[in-house]
Amino acid sequence: MQHIIQQLEEKRARARQGGGEKRAQAQHAKGKLTARERIELLLDENSFEEYDMFVEHRCADFGMPDQKVPGDGVVTGSGTINGRLVFVFSQDFTVFGGSLSESHAEKICKIMDQAMKVGAPVIGLNDSGGARIQEGVASLAGYAEVFQRNVMASGVIPQISVIMGPCAGGAVYSPAMTDFIFMVKDSSYMFVTGPDVVKTVTQETVTQEELGGAVTHTSKSGVADLAFENDVEALEQVRRFVDFLPASNREKSPIRETPDSVERTEMSLDSLIPSDPHKPYDMKELIHKIVDEGDFFETQAEHAKNIIVGTARIGGETVGIVANQPMVLAGCLDIDSSRKAARFVRFCDCFNIPILTLVDVPGFLPGTAQEYSGIIKHGAKLLYAFAEATVPKVTLITRKAYGGAYDVMSSKHLRGDMNYAWPTAEIAVMGSKGAVEIIFRSEIGDEGKIEERTQEYQEKFANPFVASNRGFVDDVIMPHNTRRRLARAFAMLRNKELENPWKKHGNIPL
Ligand code: HXC
Repeated sequence: MQHIIQQLEEKRARARQGGGEKRAQAQHAKGKLTARERIELLLDENSFEEYDMFVEHRCADFGMPDQKVPGDGVVTGSGTINGRLVFVFSQDFTVFGGSLSESHAEKICKIMDQAMKVGAPVIGLNDSGGARIQEGVASLAGYAEVFQRNVMASGVIPQISVIMGPCAGGAVYSPAMTDFIFMVKDSSYMFVTGPDVVKTVTQETVTQEELGGAVTHTSKSGVADLAFENDVEALEQVRRFVDFLPASNREKSPIRETPDSVERTEMSLDSLIPSDPHKPYDMKELIHKIVDEGDFFETQAEHAKNIIVGTARIGGETVGIVANQPMVLAGCLDIDSSRKAARFVRFCDCFNIPILTLVDVPGFLPGTAQEYSGIIKHGAKLLYAFAEATVPKVTLITRKAYGGAYDVMSSKHLRGDMNYAWPTAEIAVMGSKGAVEIIFRSEIGDEGKIEERTQEYQEKFANPFVASNRGFVDDVIMPHNTRRRLARAFAMLRNKELENPWKKHGNIPL
């Protein structure tokens, strides 16, 4: 017996070594942690239960039978984050560059299947040279098995990808189908084809970092949600983020007790809106002042900054926040912001996360660039997402809510449950000046008349009362009471039930 135990210990020790000390040092030299170090930081201490530590590849070519490393380049299992179950896979770059073999894929699939059965998030720590070249199509098959599971798990369990090294070619499509992608600056990249192929095909000279680094994907492409300075920060922030989420679509997010009273008033909000309607203000200030302890986890913070999305809590309950940002493009909706917000709204709806929408929107961004690139279809994504969402929806119009954008931003007409406005709200087809120039075109040139008409339009529409007369706004609330009113609305809606008609799936304007 003693002998067998010793054998087991030796086997375990061998598996834990991965590709060996030298390769682990090379990993550290690049500023990266090893697969196991990452898991240790991600999960609660001593909570990791490993699967398939002794799995090896089955490749018989290219001298591979002599190069077997137990675990085959990926560490998989379950553990807890602040006491809540999660599943994790962590690719080990020290073993064949973390490349994906058939066995490696099977290990990932196994924990995904298990996570689906028990209803818990899957967190993938990606650091891989892609398909295991020696295995050919068996490796491609492995990827496809993972892809299929990503799709089946979508909307059932939260899936989070952390890119902590290379992720290239078809391999990018697994993270792409997960709910969130986090990247590490300077050590991770994602692209479909690398700089060498790009050079050959398009004659463009571009570095890995420029083509698919963390900054590129969090600012330009919007493929990734957040970029972190290093592995440690990335893993700490994943822990923080997971706390906001439910374990699966069968549950609600956990309620977190807070010392921050929902009765807290915030007098400074009474002067947040500048008296000049053309002057911007920072919508993030409003968010920070109304959520529990000012704790807001913003995603896509560097992309399409004219809209803000992220999670926070109000009265201990997780809410997803979608907010126009008047500081950028005056808070207009454009293609990028519509896509960003639509995806976030759908994420919240899949996972029973109530949505708070903060509105200050002068309309859709005009221009050929937007029209030629399909703002009609992209803007429709956001409209569709809000309209199909059945989670509790609370909306607050702080200032402008003009035109189609008024309808889109979780209006009453899209089944908004509680729609509030501040006294500074202006709910109209368009701004006063533009409106007058259209309906009183014949009077243009007569400055006095136009001024008078503008004043008339302003008085009639630049307020929340026409909308509230019709019941399109449920109440006009004082800014300093916003937190209390929103908290009450979400508490009232906690047991909301609403179902869409049965269908196989809708046909969202993709
Ligand atoms: C097998 C691989 C490998 C791979 C790396 N290695 N990638 N082994 N299959 N795909 C091995 C190397 O042989 C080396 O082994 C070790 O991992 C570390 O690799 P290095 O090249 O020394 O590391 P580095 O200089 O950091 O470069 C990392 C890299 C490079 C940029 C990822 O290794 C690389 O370009 N690899 C090939 C990438 C690739 O073309 N993959 C296939 C893409 S197609 P030793 O023993 O020396 O430590 C694809 C399709 C997926 O993925 C399709 C899904 C549908």
